Order: sequence, then C-alpha cells, then structure tokens
Amino acid sequence: MMMVNKTKAWKKLAEHYKHIKNVEMRDLFDADDNRAAKFTLKLDNLIFDYSKNRITERTIKHLLRLAQDTGVPEKIQAMFRGDKINFTENRAVLHTALRNRINTPVLVDGKNVMPEINAVLAKMKKFSEAVRLGKFTGHTGKKLTNIVNIGIGGSDLGPVMAVEALRKYWAKGMNCYFISNIDGTACAEVLNKIDPETTLFIVSSKTFTTIETLTNARTCRKWLVDALGEPAVAKHFIAISTNKKEVEKFGINPENMFEFWDFVGGRYSMWSAIGMSIALVTGMNNFEKMLDGAFSVDKHFRETDLEHNIPVMMALLGIWYNNFFNIKRYAVIPYDQYLQYFPAYLQQLDMESNGKFVDADGKVVTYSTGPVLFGGAGTNVQHSFFQLIHQGTDIVPCDFIIPAISHNEIGNHHEILIANVLAQGEALMRGKTEKEAAAELAKAGKSKDEIKLLKRYKSFTGNRPSNTFLVKKVDAYTLGQLVALYEHKVFVQGIIWNINSYDQMGVELGKQLALNILPELSNNATGIRHDCSTSQLIETIKKMRK
Ligand code: F6P
Repeated sequence: MMMVNKTKAWKKLAEHYKHIKNVEMRDLFDADDNRAAKFTLKLDNLIFDYSKNRITERTIKHLLRLAQDTGVPEKIQAMFRGDKINFTENRAVLHTALRNRINTPVLVDGKNVMPEINAVLAKMKKFSEAVRLGKFTGHTGKKLTNIVNIGIGGSDLGPVMAVEALRKYWAKGMNCYFISNIDGTACAEVLNKIDPETTLFIVSSKTFTTIETLTNARTCRKWLVDALGEPAVAKHFIAISTNKKEVEKFGINPENMFEFWDFVGGRYSMWSAIGMSIALVTGMNNFEKMLDGAFSVDKHFRETDLEHNIPVMMALLGIWYNNFFNIKRYAVIPYDQYLQYFPAYLQQLDMESNGKFVDADGKVVTYSTGPVLFGGAGTNVQHSFFQLIHQGTDIVPCDFIIPAISHNEIGNHHEILIANVLAQGEALMRGKTEKEAAAELAKAGKSKDEIKLLKRYKSFTGNRPSNTFLVKKVDAYTLGQLVALYEHKVFVQGIIWNINSYDQMGVELGKQLALNILPELSNNATGIRHDCSTSQLIETIKKMRK
C-alpha cells in the first residue's frame, strides 16, 4: 500500500497548510458569527465544539477526503464486525462487543461471542450485588468493604480512572484501593490502611503473567494468609483474566474467576470484568450505565457520516496538527476534579496504541504517528504548565472537558471553574497583541517606560487551538461516552497512519532486560554483558544495598 504521505489527499492537505498557517483564528471568528455552530457536533447531552481550531471548511473537506481515501468507513465496519484487524497478533478487536447493549450477534471465528459476554456480565452482577449486600462475606463472616484492585496498565488505569470519576456514586462504607506499581511502597501503603477480615482483593491481569501484578498479588496473599489462614483465600481473592490455567496455578478458585477474551486489548478492557472494582464500589447499575454511554458512541461512530462523526473529527484534527503543523503533542484537561486520572488513562490508550513506527506493510513510516499526550485537572494545571501553553515557543493543542453541573455545587465554585476553562480557550485562540497589552497597561496607570518594557512580555500570540467537550454532568453514562470517543479517535488515527493500534511490542524490551538484571541483583549471578553504565549502576546499587 502507498504510504499515506504519498497520497493525493495528503499532498492536497500539505498544499492547503501553506495557506492556513498564516491565518489567524481571531480573524476567522470575526468574519463569521456562525463559526461556532458550523464547527460543533452534538451527541445526547455531549457537545463537541471544535471551532477554535486552525481550520476552514476547506480544511475539513481535505481532511475528510484523507479519511475516505484511507478507508476509514470500511475499517470502522471491519472492527465492529470482528475482522482480525490486530494483524500482528491475529486477533479481532472487540471491546465494542462488551458494550453491545442490543445484543446483536458478534462473530469471532464464526462463533457468536455475545452469550459468553452476557454470562460474565450476569456473573459480575450477581457477585457484586452479593458483596454489596453482605451476602458474600469474608472468611470470618464480616462484610467486604475494602476493595483492592491489583493490576497494572490496562488492568489498573481504566478502573482507577473510572472509580475515581464516579466517586460520588460509591456505596456508603465502601472503600477502593489500587495496587499497581512493583515498588513495595504501593503494597505497603494500602495494606497499612486495611483490615484483612473486610478486604476483597481483585487480581486483574489479562495474561496473568505480568511480574508486577503477580508479585503484588503474592505479597497480598501472604499478608492475608498470615492473618486469617490459607482457607481464607477463597473468600478474599478473585481473579479477572483470560488465562484460566495461570489463575488456578496461582491458587484462586476458578469459581472466583471472571473471564475475558483475547479480542479485548488490555487498554480497552475496563468494559470487561476488569471493571469489577467499578461495579463493586458504584454498583452494577452504574457499570451498565457506563456501557450504555459507550454504546451510544459506538452507534454514533458506526452510523454517522464522517463529517458529523465526533471521533473521526477528533482524529482528523489530531492528524492536521501532528502531520502538517508538525505539532507532536497535545494536552487533555478535564475541568472536573473527579476526572483527575483521565489524562493518565488516555496516555496509555493513545501512546501505547499509536506509538509505532512500522506500518501494516512492515515498512518504517516516513511520517509521524502517535503524539505525546499529557494533562491534568483544571484549574490546577493552569498554575503548573499553562505558562508554556500560552507563551511557549511550541504549540500544544488542548482538549478541555467541562461539565455544566458539578456534583458539588458549593457557593460559586463551579461558576469560577467554568469561567476559567472558557477563558483559557478564548485566550489561547485570541491572544493579545502588543497594542492591546499597551492599552491595558495604560489603563492600569503604568508609565510610558513601563509600558514600553512590559507590553512585549504581556502579549500573547494566540492562534493556539483547543477543543471543548461540554457535558451536562460527569455520571457513568457520560464517562462511558468520553472514554469511547477517545478510543475511536485513536482507532481512526491508527487507520490513517496504517499502523496496528492493538499490539504493544515496544513494552516488551524493557520487560525482557529487567528479567536479565533481576538475578544479578538478588544473587551474585554475573556473565550478562551490559553497557558499562548499566554494569556500573548494578555494582553501585549492590554495594549500597549491602
Ligand atoms: O504495558 C504492557 C501491558 O501489556 C499493557 O498493554 C497491559 O495493559 C499491561 O501490560 C498489563 O497486562 P496484564 O493485564 O496482562 O497484566
């Protein structure tokens, strides 16, 4: 297949970029009162305003052509149909089947996977309700009120993000903790807070071979057995995995295992039983509402033409900046404290999916793929990295997320929050000329010399892009929608870049090397050749640890 940067659509965009790069967004807004309406899409109560981007209708036309020519519409159908689009692992990509709320058959190798999915959902419902009602108790008969999810990457980031996002829906008296890092501190700090008699550990691992998760799980198991004895394990440990054999080997009763399948990628797995902590703490009804929200986006993504398709537009705007403006980063800033872990979750989703340099034809790509993503909750980040976003030499396109209604409407907190997010988008778009800065300084009573000195520092180039996602309130449904929008955005970009967004071979090298180094640290094994820096560090660490 021809590399995308050699296609006609790409070349047209490159040509068009030469024109757009000097166009000011403030002029586009001043010239067209209808611009916001023109560049806004809506899905239920979710509004996606992408008018503050360096685009015109012509840009959109060219971007849509790129999506058409790279086969985005057909590939969308292929994913939902269960084609093996994860071609390096020969797997279907069917996290969408987990939230297929109308239960239409979804075939993998000719077999409808919906009955199995529904059976696990039913098992999750039964189990989570039994725990919440105190019918499934701990070994000593006490209610299980401390939920501890042990997992890493996709087996942690989705659940922790969602559990925190839905904190307002937590059952009274229930607490939830997450152990992911192999750093013993992660385990120690959680175990210090909980009581074995009231704790349920969820060992979440797709493969059940991940060293961090299994080491943490063994430590927690020993802690529990030391306190309550071996028979307690059956009442205090459950497993979520695709690997039944390893779960049994670990010593968890298969009855306490909740299965998922290899057509669900780790970073796409919060919709499976990997989301058990969400169901336990917020209730299965909220977990199902999250699935409903994601399903509404799936339907929209599958059935809406490219131009009105929110994930497609998100993806195309990302490509516009990444590949034509040469901007290889973007920030996601939710103005909602409960969404504080959303950027961390998206980092894995986007960067593990699209951080690839070899295309589907085995060739090294000659264009950039996945950007660097960072972010944090507003307004906090306004007081950390926003200086660079406003006046740095590098442009950072931003996604702002804001709920119209807060879960905690206290005084005028939420109005101040909203005013801030809207002000950021406006300031980034409009900027402030030196003339405007000078006028402001004069109005503030500054002297001529002061104005001369300060006006340059107080001016902003503006013309910096942002998207605004406005939702009514961050509930489980909306959360499901937001996550699914980004999942599909990442998918569309992967299609256009012609890469496999569903493997993660790059993570393997570090894992392999760590396994080589481990014996050298724990005993005196030698003989492995390292670079001299690594060898020196190993020796020094060994001396320090003696
Ligand atoms: O970081 C690599 C990775 O394979 C992720 O893709 C995955 O989410 C994580 O490790 C955890 O894997 P598992 O769920 O198999 O323990």
